[in-house]
Amino acid sequence: MAETMTTTAGAPWVSNQDSRSAGQRGPLLLENYQLLEKLAHQNRERIPERTVHAKGSGAFGTFTVTHDITRFTRASIFGEIGKTTPMLARFSTVAGERGAADAERDVRGFALKFYTDQGNWDLVGNNTPVFFVRDPMKFPDFIHTQKRHPRTNMRSATAMWDFWSLSPESLHQVAILFSDRGLPQGYRFMNGYGSHTFSMWNDKGERFWIKFHFKTQQGHRFWTNDEGNAVIAQDRESSQADLYNAIERGAFPRWTLFIQVMPEEDAERIGFNPFDVTKVWPHGDFPLHEVGVMELNRNPAHYFAEIEQASFSPSNVVPGIGFSPDKMLQGRLFAYADAHRYRVGTHYEALPVNRPHVPARTYHQDGPMRFDTPSAGDAYYEPNSFGGPVEARETGEPPLRISGDAAIYEHRSDGDDFAQPRALYRMFDEAQRTRFFANIAAAMEGVSDEIVERQLALFAKADPSWAEGVRAKRAGTVRHPTGSAPTSQELEHA
Ligand code: NDP
Ligand code: HEM
Repeated sequence: MAETMTTTAGAPWVSNQDSRSAGQRGPLLLENYQLLEKLAHQNRERIPERTVHAKGSGAFGTFTVTHDITRFTRASIFGEIGKTTPMLARFSTVAGERGAADAERDVRGFALKFYTDQGNWDLVGNNTPVFFVRDPMKFPDFIHTQKRHPRTNMRSATAMWDFWSLSPESLHQVAILFSDRGLPQGYRFMNGYGSHTFSMWNDKGERFWIKFHFKTQQGHRFWTNDEGNAVIAQDRESSQADLYNAIERGAFPRWTLFIQVMPEEDAERIGFNPFDVTKVWPHGDFPLHEVGVMELNRNPAHYFAEIEQASFSPSNVVPGIGFSPDKMLQGRLFAYADAHRYRVGTHYEALPVNRPHVPARTYHQDGPMRFDTPSAGDAYYEPNSFGGPVEARETGEPPLRISGDAAIYEHRSDGDDFAQPRALYRMFDEAQRTRFFANIAAAMEGVSDEIVERQLALFAKADPSWAEGVRAKRAGTVRHPTGSAPTSQELEHA
């Protein structure tokens, strides 16, 4: 026999079909607390969606070490070959809201949480090895260009190209976005990158700068714009369905983890800023070291509890893995936990999906939704004489040598914005270039000639044929879009 339904207080739920009313046809009674509980709960079923990466899909799995990297790191997750650590992945698109269609051209988020035996390590990356801007001061403005225009409530191609054409450091990521990899067929068919430079340190206290690469074992698969549009017309959840169904039928997706390694002192010697997230480290100079394999093999039992509430933060590191001077990474170390406290709640890390698989022993006290009952007794502050947990200084990272004067430095003066986009562009074959030009031309529809010309000048600096290809494609394209928001000028002239 089925179990009895109850209120949240555990008392029997008398009727779930009919409300309590004054007479057969009479109004409802305020004392009908079970109806009130039900309606009140429905009113609270949503939490604020993520300000970026709102639409996502996730799954649980394992990470298994296949190669020894203990010479670079003391992190226990990499402690021995064969070691397996449980983990969670959440993939996402960036710009769309929670109900956005999956098959849109956009960067994909690639957020990982490893429940290690030294606490949680989160690697919150993308499917691209670089990013659009290199200073966190520019991130909110950039994101505003990707979201809706405040007046029209529509996406604005003008805003996007205006910002990109005024921010040459975006060119590398723009090139990837409009290449085939900008519209993967699903989350299984793309790589993941830590993107920033991170650090590792070993038992001897030696530090190495590190890039993380997760290469898909499913192969890269992409859709053209037309194919993507046809998919969206039929199915807005194509990536969600692909990931969920693959795991249900036992076709567990896998990625191989590689790292690139740079000894600490080499950062001063190489010809570019290794902490600039708009740049990759060329494989020729910094070869990939294989580390292990990530497999996703369990779908969440409850999407909201385990994926919507999942809270990833680049600030979650474990001894042996650390940050770097990358300015964007530094900004992100603040942004994520702050977002979680607002979006999920003060004690978000006590939720089952976020909780480490080792005991968390903090001196944090009260606040909304204290889920557990702290058993500290008299040791509720630190230091104390009552046997409370103590700090673990020996797990801290080795000192980092810093030089220079505190000032506001012009980030544009630190390196070349065109060499790496050029290298990428020159890897594209004829067919890839044709699709690339078409994707850019389509995204530029409705944008003023002034902004387009400024952007074409950036393409030309990378390679004249890039600008010419887009120009030629635009010449053969209808110039009046239906999907992008008009600028103020366009509205005035309408
Ligand atoms: P390599 O020839 O050694 O590497 C080229 C890389 O490009 C491979 O990792 C390949 O990924 C990747 N790639 C292929 N097509 C695309 C695409 N459409 N969008 C994004 N990446 C793609 O050369 P370098 O290391 O000297 O790098 C040359 C350029 O390759 C860089 O400027 C950068 O744009 C791009 N790249 C470099 C990466 C790096 O870490 N060095 C990582 C990813 C891209 P795969 O192995 O999966 O086929
Ligand atoms: C999500 C801020 C750059 C990858 C988010 C969220 C914020 C944020 C506030 C929402 C978090 C939440 O509500 O749970 C920033 C800031 C950045 C920045 C301030 C720059 C200064 C980047 C970069 C990457 C990245 C460079 C990739 C390398 C992601 C991913 C998510 C995310 C994958 C979704 C995480 C999830 O699945 O929950 N970002 N971000 N972000 N960001 Fe960033």
